[in-house]
Amino acid sequence: MKRFTIADLAAWKKAGKRFAMLTSYDSVTASVFDGAGVPVLLVGDSAGNNFLGEENTIPVTLDEMVSLARSVVNGSKQALVVADFPFGSYEISEAQALETGIRFLKEAKVQAVKLEGGVRVVEQVRALVKYGIPVMGHLGMTPQSVNAFSGFKVQGRNEKGDAILEDAKALEAAGCFAVVLELVPAELAERITKELSIPTIGIGAGANCDAQVLVWTDLMGLTPNPPKFARAYRDLRSEISGGVKEWLHDVESGRFPSEAESFH
Ligand code: KIV
Repeated sequence: MKRFTIADLAAWKKAGKRFAMLTSYDSVTASVFDGAGVPVLLVGDSAGNNFLGEENTIPVTLDEMVSLARSVVNGSKQALVVADFPFGSYEISEAQALETGIRFLKEAKVQAVKLEGGVRVVEQVRALVKYGIPVMGHLGMTPQSVNAFSGFKVQGRNEKGDAILEDAKALEAAGCFAVVLELVPAELAERITKELSIPTIGIGAGANCDAQVLVWTDLMGLTPNPPKFARAYRDLRSEISGGVKEWLHDVESGRFPSEAESFH
């Protein structure tokens, strides 16, 4: 089965076809999401707070990300898999960014990478694109800068939106194939979406982006205090907990395993 490509995303933008991207951090969820038809899987460094038990994305290491990304690629057949550059793996130089990108493509076999920032990372984006590594940008509330932003807050309100628009244009000019807009006013996201020819992928950025992305644990009701912009389509926390409690009870009362589940 052929995977979706960055050319497909460009064609969807042109045709006005909305699409979705969903995070995944392992081969099991990747195979479920891929089978359900999610066209783009993001191995986000949100693995830090949604998978590895960290407070935020900052402690996530490159080795951890490469391993998670390989697992998502192995579990999927059709999705375009995008891996996040973790904090500290690209900021220093174009060479550092290139080394990180090469590791993701060779060791994890992903089809594209994502990094945070606008004008400040255009040299890194150019170097990656020059060597055949497709890059997705990420603007607005970029979680690796949570300390500088003093928390998770909407970015780009009023005249501050102009700087985000300029960043978005710089990323497009440097060769990004798409850009994530996180926690920005819906009006700003709409304006950026109209001005760019590459797809915008919104999260907490209103309904008028070309695409939407969510963290899968928010989507499925596993996150105890989900952000306002997320919608839980299932309550997996209760489902899983209920199933585990039933099994515990059956073990303790001798109802598991049954004769049919035993060997003689
Ligand atoms: O790490 C991540 O999951 C992300 C999305 C929230 C866009 O960057």
